[in-house]
Amino acid sequence: MELTYRPRRLRRTPALRSMVRENTLSASDFIYPLFVHEGKEVQQIGAMPGASRWTIDALVTEVSRAWNLGIRCVVLFPKISEALKTEGGEESFNENGLIPRAIKRLKAELPDMTIMTDVALDPYSSDGHDGIVSADGVVLNDETVDHLCKQAIAQAKAGADLIGPSDMMDGRVGAIREALDDEGFENVGIISYTAKYSSAYYGPFREALDSAPRSVTSKPIPKDKSTYQMDPANAREAITEAQLDEQEGSDILMVKPGLAYLDIIYRLRQESELPIAAYNVSGEYSMVKAAAAKGWIDEKAVVLETLLSFKRAGADLILTYHACDAAKWLQ
Ligand code: PBG
Repeated sequence: MELTYRPRRLRRTPALRSMVRENTLSASDFIYPLFVHEGKEVQQIGAMPGASRWTIDALVTEVSRAWNLGIRCVVLFPKISEALKTEGGEESFNENGLIPRAIKRLKAELPDMTIMTDVALDPYSSDGHDGIVSADGVVLNDETVDHLCKQAIAQAKAGADLIGPSDMMDGRVGAIREALDDEGFENVGIISYTAKYSSAYYGPFREALDSAPRSVTSKPIPKDKSTYQMDPANAREAITEAQLDEQEGSDILMVKPGLAYLDIIYRLRQESELPIAAYNVSGEYSMVKAAAAKGWIDEKAVVLETLLSFKRAGADLILTYHACDAAKWLQ
């Protein structure tokens, strides 16, 4: 054959391939999500093999392991005991609550690690929603935002570096920015869950925190989060959300879930100059773990290929439960 172009020329040796490689992964791209609880024992999470609910003591050890592998940011999620859950999720702004105590310990022992938090009421809500549910079953926006601001302040006071509103209430980024500034936390950043979809991929996470929507009173409770999280059918709407978050003062934009929404990451990359994060969520993690346990896929190769796909789509940062494994494999 007389071919002018033979793309295989540049694939011939490992050295040539490394020279023309367009994207790479490194441990500092990762944000490692961790669950913490009040219990005295570390508990394995059934639906997320390899992930645990840590005690605060064990959390310190795990975060220092992550640091030694090159990971520079962790995000904390609390499993709150049922007795502390209320309709308004007031425990979320208790300055001596589980998350503020965990942040203070981590900052005392590992001051250089970046601590990101999650802002939403669901772990603290007896109704299992990210916001306050009214008597007639509506997730209230503005009343919820008021609680979210208090939650963000409690986290900032404890030493959080990045506040991550995951609730999808309208106007919460601007309100949290203003509340942080008013309290003197102008250097605390916001990494907003910008395009967060109403997704079935969050199932294992809700098991980890026991935070799924539920009915404990006679009040009607929406069964899913589709009146505030985005419709999986929509892409243009993600751009509107990104523009709003940017105007309201978000420092980093996030797309969630990751793998089924690579097109959204790509679109936001075209629309914004801000750093973009992808959340490789619990359901994506558990599917890989399950198939690997069956011996049906090569876990290491699949994980690294998946994480690289987020970079190729345009993400700068990746929240992933595979963070420590991937960091080890990259060494
Ligand atoms: C809570 C929150 C959720 C996740 C992160 N923050 C669940 C939800 O919105 O129901 C999901 C993370 C994952 O599945 O890994 N607002």
